[in-house]
Amino acid sequence: MELFRNRINKNNIPEHVAIIMDGNGRWAAKHGKPRVMGHEHGVESVRSVVEGAGEIGVKHLTLYAFSTENWDRPKEEVEALMGLLVYAIEAETESLMKNNVRLSAIGDVEAMPEKVREKLNACIEHLNDNTGLNLILALSYSGQWDIVNAVKKLVDDTVAKKIEVEEINNKLFNKYLATANVPDPELLIRTSGESRISNFLLWQIAYSELYFTGKLWPDFRKDDLFEAIFDYQNRERRFGKTSEQLTS
Ligand code: IPE
Ligand code: IPE
Ligand code: MG
Repeated sequence: MELFRNRINKNNIPEHVAIIMDGNGRWAAKHGKPRVMGHEHGVESVRSVVEGAGEIGVKHLTLYAFSTENWDRPKEEVEALMGLLVYAIEAETESLMKNNVRLSAIGDVEAMPEKVREKLNACIEHLNDNTGLNLILALSYSGQWDIVNAVKKLVDDTVAKKIEVEEINNKLFNKYLATANVPDPELLIRTSGESRISNFLLWQIAYSELYFTGKLWPDFRKDDLFEAIFDYQNRERRFGKTSEQLTS
């Protein structure tokens, strides 16, 4: 079978792809390894997908790396994940630089250990002038956190009379979300066979195309991303209209 890279339409690449990177633990179990080895192998998938997204001209790639709920995992696993983040950010910075990738983060980053924040901020700063793919890491993120956080800021601005209640609409609300400067994802991918959102982007996926694959995250590579994009390209996005309206 020909690679999906050669089958996708280069003129219809989604601007923003979001991925729920799931299945590291099951990958490790399948290979008789401790869970953290699954997370480690997941870093190779991130590298491949970031490269692939850049190559075909995706503008924004949001990766769900750690959810608000993931804080409830065993302490050892949370610590291992934080350590891996520090290591991976450091190890990948130069290859991100070479690929002209910019980096940003969404979520309650203040809740992350200081060491993670330091590395993250240094990397964001280092890649600041790049003009290629915008890689967005969702860290200590959840969709409900994002919405509540937006509401707090909106209320503050309303009380301070910076905005009027009558001005509040979808477009204005969007500006208060962590993704304010990014268009909503056209495509949301989840690996590992689970068909749920797990509190990832909620507001932002109102009209996203959802793609679920059974592949475990550590087995996912750039051509799997291209396959998801190929699938996306063969869907009809109607936004509430009829099919006839779109084709006439
Ligand atoms: C995803 O893999 C990584 C994170 C949530 C941080 P999991 O660790 O959830 O892997 P499974 O779902 O247990 O297989
Ligand atoms: C979602 O995966 C969070 C990330 C991928 C970071 P989980 O493995 O935490 O999701 P649930 O708990 O199975 O829904
Ligand atoms: Mg999981």
